[in-house]
Amino acid sequence: MKVDGRQMRTIWVEKDGAGVGVIDQTLLPHRFATVRLASLEDIARAISTMQVRGAPLIGAAAAYGVWLALRANASDEALENACATLIAARPTAINLKWALDEMIAAVRNRPRAERPEAALRRANEIADQDVAINQAIGRHGLKIIEEVAAKKSGQQVNLLTHCNAGWLATVDWGTAIAPIYMAHDKGLPVHVFADETRPRNQGASLTAWELGHHGVPHTVVSDNAGGHLMQHGLVDIVIVGADRVTAQGDACNKIGTYLKALAAHDNNVPFYVALPSPTIDFTIDDGVAGIPIEERAGEEVATVTGKTSTGHIEKVQIVPDGSPVANFAFDVTPSRLITGFITERGVIAASRAALAQAFPERVEVLSKSSQKVS
Ligand code: MRU
Repeated sequence: MKVDGRQMRTIWVEKDGAGVGVIDQTLLPHRFATVRLASLEDIARAISTMQVRGAPLIGAAAAYGVWLALRANASDEALENACATLIAARPTAINLKWALDEMIAAVRNRPRAERPEAALRRANEIADQDVAINQAIGRHGLKIIEEVAAKKSGQQVNLLTHCNAGWLATVDWGTAIAPIYMAHDKGLPVHVFADETRPRNQGASLTAWELGHHGVPHTVVSDNAGGHLMQHGLVDIVIVGADRVTAQGDACNKIGTYLKALAAHDNNVPFYVALPSPTIDFTIDDGVAGIPIEERAGEEVATVTGKTSTGHIEKVQIVPDGSPVANFAFDVTPSRLITGFITERGVIAASRAALAQAFPERVEVLSKSSQKVS
């Protein structure tokens, strides 16, 4: 995607080859800045503080984290330590573990001297693969939007999305937003309702910033507006991303997604989840029972950060002094509420059979694998 006319990805190897660059997503939308990450510790911190976030981008960043760790020390112990450090950075998005498994497979049977180069090669492939996957998701999702547009005889197609599953959440293009970019680029009259997505406001800060930069018409709404919009026929289709999808098709995504799925179900609004295959966790069936839900610092709920009328960025407290707060970062939408999955291999049912049929090699690898990160 382009930022002020410059083609960019969200993560890249720096020109001197000594580290990676990322967009610092904690500063958007008011400031655009990039940061250099030159060590395993830098990468782990960037993931846990959410300078980089979004399941696919977390996976790519972790892959580069393994490279940086092995460049400093290519021993088996260093590899294990790197994977343990990175996996602890954020627990819910399975793309992180997927990427670490890929990195282990790429380096473990090589002599130490070859490991850094092999790690960098695989990390670059993971990043490139993410871009290709998301373009394919975009193409498949575009057909859904085209069908809705055809039924509406050219009237505006209203989409609703939650959190940020755009290009900032991936290496490029995004998952849920990729079809919207393609529809817009093709001249379809799309309009997006972006849920603000408290507590960190990824919708208000990141999705709105992305859509605005690409010229896609959009409206930021409060998290609680979706049900009302759907009751009044103002949403044609919901598309969200996912941080982990189970073997039976339950989808874990940013907190609040489940409530949107319930509202969509009650109002017969199609509810699609866009996901790249590394987001599938075939080891878990029941998402509600099995997916670890990240709990983040209460401060994120107790405060809001924004720009004052004088242009300063300030954080203010919005709860009484001393009120306890809880901050569950994700929830699980059961497969029965999902109209379909938009994947790189097409639009499929949210079911065990459809996932296994579309990605048989992932199920096979799982049954054979003896080299997983725990
Ligand atoms: O906590 P975040 O911002 O990393 O959560 C991101 C989301 O929930 C996204 O919707 C999800 O990762 C899909 S990203 C393509």
